[in-house]
Amino acid sequence: MTIDIITVVPELLESPFGHSIMKRAQDKGLLTVTTHNLRKWAINKHAQVDDYPYGGGAGMVLMCEPLANAIDELQKDKKFDEIIYMTPDGNRFNQQAANQLSLKENLLIICGHYKGIDERIREQYVTMEISIGDYVLSGGELAAAVVVDAIGRLIPGVLSDETSALFDSFQDNLLAPPVYTRPADFRGAKVPEILMQGDPKKVEAWRYEQSVERTQNRRPDLLKD
Ligand code: ADE
Repeated sequence: MTIDIITVVPELLESPFGHSIMKRAQDKGLLTVTTHNLRKWAINKHAQVDDYPYGGGAGMVLMCEPLANAIDELQKDKKFDEIIYMTPDGNRFNQQAANQLSLKENLLIICGHYKGIDERIREQYVTMEISIGDYVLSGGELAAAVVVDAIGRLIPGVLSDETSALFDSFQDNLLAPPVYTRPADFRGAKVPEILMQGDPKKVEAWRYEQSVERTQNRRPDLLKD
């Protein structure tokens, strides 16, 4: 899978994909993340990519031309399955959306900054708008990092134990069960006996029960359907 990201602050995206599972995904050739500095398509020698909003008001708006030229150029090399704009007024991101996006070949993500991007780019180019929650970030970069991480770990072969993503919280609309490791007794707090006995069927049944109980207590909204 390839993910291209257009941003005015590429530095913000250097670290999130340079470590741990995202790095392994790229080293294995399963995921290629490429960031593109929008200033490469600036309209003048001052590297201008934004301007004041028509109608007045505070904040700057990313202009049509740099964005359109960037997308047009990137589209020459690749057909994007989705052109995604990160925005707090987009559709709320969740595990189901991550699952669906992890099946795509090529994604392009546009990060807004300041007040956002000119509405005409949203109308003419963007095919999907994603919010990671009801709060406003300074730009779409950190939100894009969240989305890429959630998608990347679902690509087959990225996690060493391929089945492990299936047991994540939110797969099947259930939260994950509690987990324990050594020591078996931590300051008097013992690991549940059933996990110590090592009967896989009983462990599976216990984990499922715990998942349901945890979901009932913490996120009853997930069990509604
Ligand atoms: N850009 C700024 N805030 C955002 C959010 N909550 N989700 C996605 N993109 C954003």
